[in-house]
Amino acid sequence: ADTLGGAAAQSGRYFGAAVDPGHLGEGDYASALNREFNSVVAENAMKWDATEPNQGQFSFGAGDQVVSHARSKGMKVRGHTLVWHSQQPAWVRGLTGDSLRRAMIGHISGVAGHYRGQISSWDVVNEAFEWDGSRRQSNLQQQLGNGWIEEAFRAADAADPGAKLCYNDYGTDGINAKSDAIYRMVKDFRNRGVPIDCVGFQSHLDSNADLSTYRQNLQRFADLGVDVEITELDVGGSGAAQARVFRDVTAACVAVSRCTGITTWGVTDKYSWRSQETPLLFDSAYRKKAAYGAVLDVLNGA
Ligand code: G3I
Repeated sequence: ADTLGGAAAQSGRYFGAAVDPGHLGEGDYASALNREFNSVVAENAMKWDATEPNQGQFSFGAGDQVVSHARSKGMKVRGHTLVWHSQQPAWVRGLTGDSLRRAMIGHISGVAGHYRGQISSWDVVNEAFEWDGSRRQSNLQQQLGNGWIEEAFRAADAADPGAKLCYNDYGTDGINAKSDAIYRMVKDFRNRGVPIDCVGFQSHLDSNADLSTYRQNLQRFADLGVDVEITELDVGGSGAAQARVFRDVTAACVAVSRCTGITTWGVTDKYSWRSQETPLLFDSAYRKKAAYGAVLDVLNGA
């Protein structure tokens, strides 16, 4: 196949991009997106600050634009993200104890309920662990205690029972203290019947990334009975070194049958959050980079 989405589809996988609905009206942005990708995720539009600026008052306009674009093009939609320590609206910051618990559950019910049936997989909880494997001391952790992640997954399951429910994090690009801790949590959830279906590996990488245990790490999670997804892939750098990392990540996903797809964290270097690092597959003029060819070849089985 001659597009990323088409090539990924040959093995039943998706190839997606994070999108900003503000750019969907730009011809070059939309044409690259529509041609190459068969899945999208909102880069910011479905986060807590965007969707519930005041408690109980939801604002779905930007998120709905992403979903309706995807629907009109037959693309899947990942949901990102129901609960995160970052990008919380100001009103959440002041809450303690059961008020925060009710706010979290109300948020999950409101957002996952609104998009019920339209999201392939939700990042229910994002970035709850530290590098050393301890829990991040967020307001959620401090106010609600260790059980908050499980509570979030149960609420998401109630709101959208058809969506796959993922835990998503960065720095989990191999076997290390952080991925070990997440592994133990997922194993415990599976043993106790807490509804978790997938783990997202963000994969914000650099051209010198050590990927020696990347595939093995995906596989050990898959062996727990969950899907694994590469959810926010981008690689600082350029040329052959950048292409090598994109190629190896793609090859690792293709080698793991439960790796269901790859999402790059944007379409073009022009709008990447890593504005000086040219980390994506299309340059700022929407030209295909060396890394694009490397990914396409792997997806095509080369
Ligand atoms: O929308 C406001 C706009 O109203 C305001 O005028 C402008 C002024 O700074 O800010 C705009 O919001 C920015 C938003 O992106 C939309 O452009 C925020 O300041 C900025 O902080 C925000 O950055 C996003 C970041 O998450 C927030 O933490 C990035 O675009 C987004 O790529 C990034 O994505 C995260 C994933 O969600 C989780 N994993 C890591 C990844 C990279 O940090």
